[in-house]
Amino acid sequence: MSANWTKDGWRSKPRIQMPDYPDAAALQAVEAQLAKYPPLVFAGETRSLRRALGEVAQGRAFLLQGGDCAESFAEFGADNIRDTFKVLLQMAVVLTFGARVPVVKVGRMAGQFAKPRSAATETQNGVELPSYRGDIVNDLAFTAEARTPDPRRMLQAYTQAAATLNLLRAFSQGGFADLHRVHSWTLGFLEGEGYERYRDMSDRISQALDFMSAAGINSTTSEQISRTDFYTSHEALLLEYEQALTRVDSTSGQTVAGSGHLIWIGDRTRQPDGAHVEFCRGVMNPIGLKCGPSLQPDELIRLIDILNPQNDPGRLTLIGRFGADRIEAHLPALIEAVRREGRAVVWSCDPMHGNTVKSATGYKTRPFERVLEEVRRFFAIHRELGSYPGGVHVEMTGQNVTECTGGVSAVSEKTLSDRYHTACDPRLNAAQSLELAFLLADEIQRSHPGRSEVAAE
Ligand code: PEP
Ligand code: CO
Repeated sequence: MSANWTKDGWRSKPRIQMPDYPDAAALQAVEAQLAKYPPLVFAGETRSLRRALGEVAQGRAFLLQGGDCAESFAEFGADNIRDTFKVLLQMAVVLTFGARVPVVKVGRMAGQFAKPRSAATETQNGVELPSYRGDIVNDLAFTAEARTPDPRRMLQAYTQAAATLNLLRAFSQGGFADLHRVHSWTLGFLEGEGYERYRDMSDRISQALDFMSAAGINSTTSEQISRTDFYTSHEALLLEYEQALTRVDSTSGQTVAGSGHLIWIGDRTRQPDGAHVEFCRGVMNPIGLKCGPSLQPDELIRLIDILNPQNDPGRLTLIGRFGADRIEAHLPALIEAVRREGRAVVWSCDPMHGNTVKSATGYKTRPFERVLEEVRRFFAIHRELGSYPGGVHVEMTGQNVTECTGGVSAVSEKTLSDRYHTACDPRLNAAQSLELAFLLADEIQRSHPGRSEVAAE
């Protein structure tokens, strides 16, 4: 365990973006109850994710992290979970083919409830109320009652996360994730108009799978074909919830955040002496750190000193989220500082949070082209600096929503209102997510031409 760390040490540090609960007794009761519940994830699982991310840091695997901006109580249901999981698997197959390395799959699922906000209050028609901070804290409805932080929502979030994880474990281990089946969904999707340009790659994936079958590698002979490892992640923002689910692993004596496999620190809460960094430094889970335009190289090194003092390659994933037009001004200096200091990290790209714009019709949206452009520049920067572009982090859903504009499915500013369901940021829909995977696979192949030639021989 880290020096001088206790699971409640964050309470004496400056805290921001967390609710002030009016009912202290109710909060304490919820914390005590959660502390008795079983953890949602276990030490052995977080260790295997750390190992897998270590492979990413060393250029031998690729990270795909994705899911809702904010999970919601209202949208909770088996079909939604299945559909998001399904698209993540489809993306992973395409990326595995493009990158020629295993893809580590991590959902923004089963715990992604608490949201940082740019303003503490929201005003509508002259009425000012606390901002909505995610379903684990308060309710989206614009009434004083709904917006009052209610600690009992943590119990509902826990229950939803447990049920989500239960389904994900069944899906990933029980035959649903069979490679052939996942690829056949993709073939069906590509029959749609406008997707011709992706059929060549999907035909090559079909051929690779046929070849493996012919060689006797299929779902009955190989677990690699029939099952998959799938991990969960969320922003560790609501520290009362995080602390209540923290457990000491009886075999290793290590402290584990039991709320999800990977937890990350948001761009707004990464102050080196703040509460969120303090909590995260002491748990053994893989940690993500969002890196936005205001992060200076020396501050990043200071954060790495705190969060990864042993320089373990799978411990820390740096998730850049600069915006397509700002990544070039910020990312290279961070990469150079990390290299100069000899730090092992995973470099991932979140092309969502720096590319949010307001449409003419008033919706918060993200143009697909800008999202793609940030990823392209991310690969180009790493290519130029000789570092490894290790992964992507996207806000997406398996539903056919209209929240981001563009892509073959051609969501336009006019059609944004058709199915705009997000409780927070705009997500890529199923078609846009899969299209992004094909375009990324192309990009990755360009980044490592040698690797795909070797693999093709
Ligand atoms: C998020 O990932 O939903 C988020 C709030 O990101 P960031 O901290 O990078 O703004
Ligand atoms: Co978001």
